[in-house]
Amino acid sequence: MRKNHLSPELEGEILSNFRIPSGEYTLVPYGSGHINDTLLAGNGKGDRYIFQRINNNIFQDVPALMGNILRVTEFLQDSVRKNGGDPRRESLTVIRTVDNAPYYQDREGGYWRAYLFVEDTVCRDRAETAEEFAQSGEAFGRFQKLLADFPADSLAETIPDFHNTPKRFEAFLDAIQKDPLGRKKEVEREIEFLLARREDMSRLTEALRKGELPLRVTHNDTKLNNVLLDRETLRGICVIDLDTVMPGLSVNDFGDSIRFGASTAPEDEQDLSKVEMSLSLFRAYAEGFLRGCDGRLTENEYACLPLGAKTMTMECGMRFLTDYLLGDTYFKTHRPGQNLDRCRTQLKLVADMEGKWAEMERIISECRG
Ligand SMILES: Nc1ncnc2c1ncn2[C@@H]1O[C@H](COP(=O)(O)OP(=O)(O)O)[C@@H](O)[C@H]1O
Ligand SMILES: [Mg+2]
Repeated sequence: MRKNHLSPELEGEILSNFRIPSGEYTLVPYGSGHINDTLLAGNGKGDRYIFQRINNNIFQDVPALMGNILRVTEFLQDSVRKNGGDPRRESLTVIRTVDNAPYYQDREGGYWRAYLFVEDTVCRDRAETAEEFAQSGEAFGRFQKLLADFPADSLAETIPDFHNTPKRFEAFLDAIQKDPLGRKKEVEREIEFLLARREDMSRLTEALRKGELPLRVTHNDTKLNNVLLDRETLRGICVIDLDTVMPGLSVNDFGDSIRFGASTAPEDEQDLSKVEMSLSLFRAYAEGFLRGCDGRLTENEYACLPLGAKTMTMECGMRFLTDYLLGDTYFKTHRPGQNLDRCRTQLKLVADMEGKWAEMERIISECRG
């Protein structure tokens, strides 16, 4: 069982192993993250830190993961400084252990890390306004700008083939062929929809292979709740949750935000008439993202932003369908057929994007000015 409340011994052990100013710290559960156990530590004298027990069921190679995070945050801080910003506020800051390591393993085997607490921010699970969505876009765009010169191929691929869409397509074909639960006959239309887009599935990975798109540092979990907004101005100031930072494609990071954030309905909506890719939300995010990128993407990357949205949405729909065919073993479900519903919303979004393609392209070129 994962728990947020620690024994006093464990608290003492963890606090004493990181390089933080002395004082009587209290540790309290913080935020609404679902992956790691997050705690806020304060000593009442203004020194505050985020401590996280890293979920090593999900992330099995913690040393590689923390190696990525350490290098990326150090690079971000240098870039922020060069741009005249505040590196302790516009980037996460990893606190080292007394042994100078970026994480500490406790006597129970738990892996811990600590960050400076970024003060005076808010973090939203859902956008309250289109402007907040745009602000997350700006923060993720700035993330691309600040890391544009980072050697992305030197990062560890902590989740191999995460957005290898053709490989996921092969897994889908395999699931259709095996059809262990006899569910294939219920989903002929969905299967056909995806099979008809086989070529599209590999367009981005092919462009990368041919050198037409550059390998970038990607975040891979570009949700609004992974951006801290300034409490006063509500501007997106700091990208957090760097566990899935890996080499990848900038257009996939953009695309996944659109897939999730520009949809007019929840991911498992059963009434498909409610599911659309909102062009006004697409525009809001694209404006923010492109402002944040500040011209640092290549022409081809700008041109492939709509394809990033479509690819991420196809891939996600295909993964839900694969899981449905195989008996719902990967994505947690709360009711029968939920993965199929999720697949259907994604395919509806793909079809909707195809219908709005020219407008998506026009919006991107307008946002570029
Ligand atoms: N350095 C930080 N400063 C301020 N708040 C933070 C910081 N790091 C994390 N948080 C808060 O903790 C929450 C969970 O952190 P996150 O790294 O996203 O964990 P998870 O992987 O579980 O989503 C965030 O949504 C945010 O509210
Ligand atoms: Mg998070």
